[in-house]
Amino acid sequence: MADRPATASRPDPAPGLRLSRRGLFTGGAAVAVGVVTSGVAAAASATDDTPQAAGDPPIKDGTAVEPFHGSRQAGIATLPQAHAVFAGFDLRDGVDRDGVSRLMRVLTDDARRLTQGLPALADTEPHLAALPARLTVTFGFGPGLYAAAGADGRPATLPAFTIDKLEPRWTGGDLLVQICADDPLTVAHTLRMIVKDTRSFATVRWVQRGFRQAAHSQQPGLTQRNVMGQLDGTGNAVAGTPEFERIVWAPDGGTTLVLRRIRTNLEKWDAADAVAKEFTIGRRLSDGAPLTGNKEHDEPDFGRLSAAGFPVISEYAHIRRARVEDPGVRILRRVYNYDEGVTRDGATDSGLLFASYQADITRQFVPIQRRLAEADLLNEWTTPIGSAVFAIPPGCGPDGWIGETVLT
Ligand code: HEM
Repeated sequence: MADRPATASRPDPAPGLRLSRRGLFTGGAAVAVGVVTSGVAAAASATDDTPQAAGDPPIKDGTAVEPFHGSRQAGIATLPQAHAVFAGFDLRDGVDRDGVSRLMRVLTDDARRLTQGLPALADTEPHLAALPARLTVTFGFGPGLYAAAGADGRPATLPAFTIDKLEPRWTGGDLLVQICADDPLTVAHTLRMIVKDTRSFATVRWVQRGFRQAAHSQQPGLTQRNVMGQLDGTGNAVAGTPEFERIVWAPDGGTTLVLRRIRTNLEKWDAADAVAKEFTIGRRLSDGAPLTGNKEHDEPDFGRLSAAGFPVISEYAHIRRARVEDPGVRILRRVYNYDEGVTRDGATDSGLLFASYQADITRQFVPIQRRLAEADLLNEWTTPIGSAVFAIPPGCGPDGWIGETVLT
């Protein structure tokens, strides 16, 4: 792999050894591999004081903090961080309303600390808390938690969809903890602290790790690509707009999450040509523009016919089937990719952690998923293998805890 020199504008005293300390940890890593045994330490110390040259990548700000307190939980309207883990827990037998309340007080306390760059109460590795990297910790309650606590407000469960091949190991759960940050080490540490807190109350049902494009690889807010190579997120509500407010938040500041683990058959997808891939979605791969438009955010023209008299955007194209005309009942997609490795035969285990937030699951998510299950060209390459629903309770203030409005 070619590597961009860290000090491109200077004469090159020793090709292959042009390493600043910063370069070692960023773009210089590939060069470092080549010299690691022979002289990397010497090279690094010789250039320790190298100032940042024009064109060097900016130093990333791991100290950036997202607010924890508020009437709504963070991690939903938050600009999506690069890394996420969704952890689903089952309550232990006998954990009742009082037990869940105690658990949520402990979890809230540690989430408020960790998100602000402070160690958890019993943090065994406090230094790992120093770089929160926009960490958010979001809690969700599954139907089983409401049953155990005898509380009102459980989320609607989903009907069975014909395309589903759900595996129990990715499905269901009483309690959700969604951890997102721009640094995967922060995510790992936070998950560890959270799991420790839950031990006496709950067991881990599943852990699903996801990623988006790295925080600094493109301008914040631009649409990311998914593992299938498509720009994913174009037709999505934008935080802060009236549409976002209406579709995501219930009046009490809560919302709901449907988390679907959707496997993508990338080997089969490789066999399709670009025309078929674009026809499947109804958008161009290069820039995400609808097949009837020029730019990513052009409105698709579903009425346009080809010279042969067929719709340019197929009746079964994903964007046509997923489209909701009534802006009041759309969904918010905050999607992560997963990629769990490669089999001995070279097949990937990849797909999407499709996270959909909406004020009302039955009115918003279900009709879209039903239409997609009935007919969507994308179904040829994608299979839902996991599914869970959670109510996301409102946020809390400095003296409160997440779930207090549900459990007290
Ligand atoms: C692996 C599975 C999936 C992939 C790869 C995928 C990919 C995409 C892509 C590339 C777009 C067009 C760009 C955009 O607007 O974001 C899109 C749009 C959309 N998708 Fe999906 N999607 C998947 C599953 C789903 C599911 C399960 C739902 C809902 C139940 C859904 C709902 C939507 C909606 C609402 C749109 C916007 C449609 C519009 O333009 O109004 N997608 N998806």
